[in-house]
Amino acid sequence: MNVVFENLSRSYGSVRALDGIDITIGPGITGLLGPNGAGKTTMLRILATLLPPTSGTARLDGWSTSHDRERVEIRRRLGYLPQDLGLYPRFTVFEFVDYLAMLKELHDPRQRHRRVREALEAVDLQDVAGRKIRTLSGGIRRRVGIAQAIVADPQLLLLDEPTGGLDPEQRVRFRQLVGRLGEHRTVLLSTHLVEDVSAICTSVVVLWHGRVLFQGAPAELRKRAEGLVWSAQEASSDAVASWRTDNGKLRVIGARPGPSATPVEPTLEDGYLLVTSGSPIR
Ligand SMILES: Nc1ncnc2c1ncn2[C@@H]1O[C@H](COP(=O)(O)OP(=O)(O)OP(=O)(O)O)[C@@H](O)[C@H]1O
Ligand SMILES: [Mg+2]
Repeated sequence: MNVVFENLSRSYGSVRALDGIDITIGPGITGLLGPNGAGKTTMLRILATLLPPTSGTARLDGWSTSHDRERVEIRRRLGYLPQDLGLYPRFTVFEFVDYLAMLKELHDPRQRHRRVREALEAVDLQDVAGRKIRTLSGGIRRRVGIAQAIVADPQLLLLDEPTGGLDPEQRVRFRQLVGRLGEHRTVLLSTHLVEDVSAICTSVVVLWHGRVLFQGAPAELRKRAEGLVWSAQEASSDAVASWRTDNGKLRVIGARPGPSATPVEPTLEDGYLLVTSGSPIR
């Protein structure tokens, strides 16, 4: 499915959270990167049909989030993990995911229960299916949230910071799961972990102050920093960013900090830091 934003803006009072977004996002896994307040959650909530745009349109294939009947068609095809998922604390894990599956129009109980068990297995939660949600840790709750997002086999999967709070083993598991899901679906996920994007995303969108600064393949974003990353003893004052690494030297992004600096292969994070730095080098 294709997600299309056309000159879309959203304001909250005087805050312009999204400012003229014009992009198309196709099938595969797209990572939404951007600093706190960039507009990632706003963008996902608009697509999830929970928030109307102030102007412009968001469409999923032919359906617009601004039309009542078309919104229903979008909701039928949607799985959404909100950033702050309000779980029902008194439900058990199974009951909660089952309840969400019911709302997703999975009416046949046997078939629905099978889907719930599969979703719980996908996030390795089959052993806590009978536990009350209020007794679970933050990372486990996050996984319950992922399970409810995938239970009805959505064609469009929206995940707002799905890996926040997951331990490293579960992050790897999550990447495998989303990698599989993204083979035949459109997945849009926001994250602060550039590694998530390197590991699973086929495309990346960088949001900054409500605008799209970059859209393309992760390798392209990495290339933006080519020739601009150095290993050095000292940083120059005009560096975009610099930090000390485990070899005791500084990693510097920007113009060559000095004659003794040696060039280093850029990472995706270097590319991200460079495009969001607002530096004239870009
Ligand atoms: N309900 C709201 N009322 C007022 N302002 C809001 C509301 N929700 C978001 N904003 C503002 O809109 C802007 C974008 O917020 P949004 O939550 O979309 O950012 P984000 O990229 O998801 O950030 P984060 O990485 O911190 O989750 C911010 O300036 C935020 O303060
Ligand atoms: Mg957010």
